[in-house]
Amino acid sequence: MPEHSFILNGERVTVDAGDDERLLWVLRDRLGVTGPKYGCGIRVCRACTSHLNGREFNPCSVPVSKVSAEDRVTTIEGLPDAEDAGDGELHPMQEAWLERDVVQCGYCQPGQIMTAVSKVREARAAGREIGEEDLAEIRNICRCGTYHRIREAILDGARRMG
Ligand code: FES
Ligand code: FES
Repeated sequence: MPEHSFILNGERVTVDAGDDERLLWVLRDRLGVTGPKYGCGIRVCRACTSHLNGREFNPCSVPVSKVSAEDRVTTIEGLPDAEDAGDGELHPMQEAWLERDVVQCGYCQPGQIMTAVSKVREARAAGREIGEEDLAEIRNICRCGTYHRIREAILDGARRMG
């Protein structure tokens, strides 16, 4: 089986996997990183949302062979060590989530938080703060219907990100 190497949550990992194997299964089944959840496998539910070089992506739809040696993959497990995380045990977006008691069953929530952080970064890269239009673009599905609290937490988390 071919060998694949990339940076995962700040550490280099090397893994044997078929070229076509999707990164989500490499993360979960071969590397034991289970924060990114499986929902659909076809980039619809966004439960698997993680970051590739700091921006949101869906590892269920990316063959591991498309990830290069210097690519940085970050899952919810590595978010507290991100550059915009500050010194706390959790990323500010996670703190906002906890304070607002967003979670119901929890299944979609790692993906929701990873999308939220990416949206804040995208807005700031464009020289502005996250707003309603950005929130309206988010496609992560929550079967528990926590959307209202998610939106409040994203705005709160953005303020905490400084
Ligand atoms: S499992 Fe990746 S988008 Fe649904
Ligand atoms: S909290 Fe249950 S699916 Fe979102």
